[in-house]
Amino acid sequence: MTMRILAVSGSIRAGSFNTALAHATAALAPADTTVEVVDLIRELPHYDPDLDVEPLPAAAEDLRRRFAAADGIVLFAPEYNFGLPGGFKNLIDWASRPYGKHCLVGKPVSVVGSSPSSGGAAQSVSYLRTVLPLLGAELVGDEVTIGKVNTLLDPETGAPSAELAAQMAAMIGLLASTAAAKTELA
Ligand SMILES: Cc1cc2nc3c(=O)[nH]c(=O)nc-3n(C[C@H](O)[C@H](O)[C@H](O)COP(=O)(O)O)c2cc1C
Repeated sequence: MTMRILAVSGSIRAGSFNTALAHATAALAPADTTVEVVDLIRELPHYDPDLDVEPLPAAAEDLRRRFAAADGIVLFAPEYNFGLPGGFKNLIDWASRPYGKHCLVGKPVSVVGSSPSSGGAAQSVSYLRTVLPLLGAELVGDEVTIGKVNTLLDPETGAPSAELAAQMAAMIGLLASTAAAKTELA
């Protein structure tokens, strides 16, 4: 059975390193796994409980439907001012409702942080790794922070260094196998 993984970049910047890393990782997925890189941030309105009623804003409906349908999710996290960029936090807020019955409950999720600084978006990763289990998601894999990512991706093609490719292949492989095991148990 093919595992369907969603890769979400927390950056909407055209030249985003996180988005480039998401695409590079998609190409490293194991057999029987599809990884779709999706921009689910750009069109989301600012979370407002008054908007969180039927009919939902189209972008929020799309986010929840895609997350619910995915076998696993990998989040690529930038860092702004020692935390998630606002649009990325907004996505988490939309995904996290309705309370206790939302699209992240029981969902295998991996987190990768990357930044041109040596910190590798460690605070964003730390936040997500804290909050995802609290929301009921199944956090998959160890902490992954990629510092100086701008030196590890080919500026022309976005291709990762051999070491980074191996790290991303291992990360997406573990997410796919965890998702497959969960699907078999269901
Ligand atoms: C408003 C702002 C705040 C930033 N704060 C941080 C930070 O706290 N830590 C960090 O490592 N990089 C920080 N950066 C640099 C980003 O890591 C860098 O712009 C990175 O390329 C963003 O990710 P992206 O390439 O996926 O868009 C900041 C950049 C901006 C524009």
